[in-house]
Amino acid sequence: MEALVIFLIALLIGSSHLDVGEGQSNNFDIVNFGAVGDGKTDDSGILGNVVAPEATAWKGSTECWLCFREVNGLFLYGSGQINGNGASWWAQGKGTKRPTALHFHDCNNLKLDGLTHLNSQNNHIGVHHSNGVSISNLHIYAPGDSPNTDGIDISGSTQVFVSNCFIGTGDDCIAIKGGSSNINITKITCGPGHGISIGSLGEGGKKENVEQVYVRDVIFNATKNGARIKTAPGGSGYARTISFEEITLINTRYPIEIDQHYCNGKAHTCSDKGNSWNFFR
Ligand SMILES: *[C@@H]1O[C@H](CO)[C@@H](O)[C@H](O)[C@H]1NC(C)=O
Ligand SMILES: *[C@@H]1O[C@H](CO)[C@@H](O)[C@H](O)[C@H]1NC(C)=O
Repeated sequence: MEALVIFLIALLIGSSHLDVGEGQSNNFDIVNFGAVGDGKTDDSGILGNVVAPEATAWKGSTECWLCFREVNGLFLYGSGQINGNGASWWAQGKGTKRPTALHFHDCNNLKLDGLTHLNSQNNHIGVHHSNGVSISNLHIYAPGDSPNTDGIDISGSTQVFVSNCFIGTGDDCIAIKGGSSNINITKITCGPGHGISIGSLGEGGKKENVEQVYVRDVIFNATKNGARIKTAPGGSGYARTISFEEITLINTRYPIEIDQHYCNGKAHTCSDKGNSWNFFR
């Protein structure tokens, strides 16, 4: 039941800041909560819409809006929507710290299926330090010009399978960051957005590794990038055993991009001692 309790708390935090004056009260229709009852698996079904508060009304974490930590065997599914209500947050500008809409940390054997994710404040879904993750049948939508609205961000995780998703946002479709291995991504349509990215790795001089990433049967439709690997100068580690197969590119500006001098617009803080390819392999 731990998962249900945490999830309900997250919803209450959100709901207490909802502007019901704008007729949004019926956007809260969470039904069909229930555990499998085997004492191990917690199920959370969402059929209605969960809507985030406006930026100025949010007094919670800047890390995440709906946050799960140390919940094993969580299954989040349904035909409902998780709506980050991003417009008022994006208007604050790229420099402000905005929460990931749905964030999982130390959640092993996690399963996400079927939900629609809209207009996140920052990244839509973050999976961190979680092993054995299955993500399928999601629809993730945000405008192509919305800032930092990655679809799915994966870091420090292993055995992650992402399949049958539509992801059109303003930033990375899927980003695979340091400490990740054994990631299978298949049957995804990306666009608009920045493609499927490894990294960035090694920002701030860090040592970071990513390996065994298999991307297959993906359509990039009107994305800026397709397959992409980004490493920062001054960092170290490796990005290895990475494959992209059966890729369809439609109107993609940079189909393959390997940038070993990625500074994310922060050229002045980017250490430039030597070439990063001396340290990344
Ligand atoms: C992941 O992809 C690799 C390479 O295509 C494949 O060998 C492996 O069986 C896949 N794993 C799963 C569990 O689908
Ligand atoms: C690509 O995107 C355009 C514009 O949204 C759409 O009309 C078209 O059907 C898409 N093509 C594929 C193969 O998904």
